[in-house]
Formats: sequence, structure tokens, C-alpha cells
Amino acid sequence: MDTRDFIAGLPKAELHLHIEGSLEPELMFALARRNRIDLPFPTVEAVRAAYQFSRLQDFLDIYYAGADVLRTEQDFHDLADAYFARAAADGVVHAEIFFDPQTHTDRGIPFQVVADGLLAAMRAAEQRHGVTSKLILCFLRHLDEDAAFATLDAAEPWLDRIAGVGLDSSELGHPPEKFARVFAEAGKLGLKRVAHAGEEGPPDYVWQALDLLNVDRLDHGNRSLEDPQLVRTLAEREMTLTVCPLSNLKLCVVDSLAQHPIDRMLDCGLYATINSDDPAYFGGYVADNYRAVAAARGLTRDQIVQLARNSFTGSFLDDASIAAHLDRLDAYVGAH
Ligand code: ADE
Ligand code: ZN
Repeated sequence: MDTRDFIAGLPKAELHLHIEGSLEPELMFALARRNRIDLPFPTVEAVRAAYQFSRLQDFLDIYYAGADVLRTEQDFHDLADAYFARAAADGVVHAEIFFDPQTHTDRGIPFQVVADGLLAAMRAAEQRHGVTSKLILCFLRHLDEDAAFATLDAAEPWLDRIAGVGLDSSELGHPPEKFARVFAEAGKLGLKRVAHAGEEGPPDYVWQALDLLNVDRLDHGNRSLEDPQLVRTLAEREMTLTVCPLSNLKLCVVDSLAQHPIDRMLDCGLYATINSDDPAYFGGYVADNYRAVAAARGLTRDQIVQLARNSFTGSFLDDASIAAHLDRLDAYVGAH
């Protein structure tokens, strides 16, 4: 079996996926038509051609504009349906997906419309594809902490169906410390905590995510490698890093995949995983990310398997479910 097929069939969890970032241009046009919205692009090809970014903010501007076509519960359902079908084809058996409620509530779309649409698709994905999932509510860090508290309040009726909170959007100038109080409150409510840190921001933002937000998992974390003490701490705490190679390339976090630090992370004892971040914008879903970085860095099968293994141990599933996934992973590896 070649590596391409081995990766597609390898059971894996996806731990870093913004559901709004899975909006393919074809669905964007279909939803624009359904909701009678004029898009600033004439064709699907023109939309794709606009996806050239030299930093995170370039991407965020177009990503928030694209999300404007999402208006109804059915729209959010269709968005997530399409993601789960694509993820299942890539060997994803469990996904922990981010959503950005403020992107929608600030446009007058009620929290309920977003959450119920996504949750219905999550239930359907388990029936249809056997893919389990959890939902993570991200606060937009370019907004203030009061807005994050208001979002946590709005989520209150859904908290039994939300696994955790996250922190995303423009990193530079918006350090984790800005959200220390709302993360503490989320912790008191029993929610898991994750945060984007060290994507563009300095190692100090990763320290803040650890020490001030008490994160259970770290999103990206690339720039941690600049600080040897931080690397040691992340390894000692067995902190899972959700790394996103094609995102890193498209947002110029790395100059080329040949320079991607994924194997360096593993060599340092970091619990790295491979994820797609915003696959509709960055040119590939999770298996494409595994394949691209494996080819560029010459990863061994053992390294590829380790990355998939880390995706289960780093998930928010219970211990018995993690053990069952690892058994299936070992069986797949043994059979191939
Ligand atoms: N929102 C969606 N994708 C993101 C990323 N890669 N970094 C920060 N915020 C995001
Ligand atoms: Zn992200």
C-alpha cells in the first residue's frame, strides 16, 4: 500500500478545524443564491484566486466576509454536513470542531441558529459516517473580554453540548492575558480550555496560554520552538499541540513545507498532531495535510502513526474511548 492510501485509511482525530473555514466556494455560491446575497466575486474560480495571503490578517478579512452567507440553521447544518463527509473520507473518526459565534451574533444571527444547526449535523455525522464529534466555542480575541463574557452567557443553555472554549482570530496585539477572567469562568463551568498561541505571536503568548488561561491543549504553538525552556515545559506537561501544516504554509508561518518543524516537534518530545485549520481556504483537508508534510519532510511511517496516535490521546474523549481508538489504530497499522 502506498503512503497516500495508508494515510487516507489511517484512523485519526481532527482537533483543529474551524467549521466556518470549511466553507468551500461552491457552497458559498449556493448559500448566497439561496439567501439572495450578492457576492463580490463573479465565479467560484475568482473566489479561489483571491485566496493568496501573506499573513493571518489577510486570511481573516476574507474568512469573515465569506461567513456572511451563513444565515439559517439549515446553512450551518449544510456547512457541517459537507465537512463531515469530507473528513470521513480522510479517515477522521472523531472531530473536535471550533465555531466562532461572535462572527454570527454580531451580524444579528442568533446563537441558537448557529449552535442548533451545527449540533444537528454532528448527530447526523455519527449516524451517517460513524464520526463522533465535540464542539468548541471560540472567542474572537480582536474583540474585548466583555464580549467574550456575553458570548459565554448566550451559550449557557447549550453548555451541556459544548466541550470547551477556545481563542482565535488576530493573535498579534491580543495576548492571552486579555482573556484570563473569562477562561477562569469557563473552567469553573467545567469546560475544557484551548487557545491559538505561537502561530504569529511570540513564545510569551504560549506561556500566557499555559499559565494564565490554563489550557488543556494548545493550537498551533509553532513559535514555542524559539524557547527551549518552553519546549521542555510543554513536553513535561504532555501538552498536545494542534499543528496545521498547509495553514502554516498559506499564512507564511513557514516559508516552505520543506522547512516545516513537525518532525523537530516530535523529536523534542512534543505531542504534535496534524490538522487542517481552514481547509477550504488552505488547499486541503486533514489527509492532504498529512501527505504534504510527510512528503516534504520525509516522515517515516512510525512518525505518521505517532501523529495519528497523538490525535486520540490529545482529544477530549474519555479514557475508554481513547483506548478503543488506539486499539483500532494499532490493528490498522498491524494489518498494513
Ligand atoms: N480563525 C480561523 N482560522 C484561524 C487561524 N489559523 N488563526 C487564528 N484564528 C483563526
Ligand atoms: Zn485555527
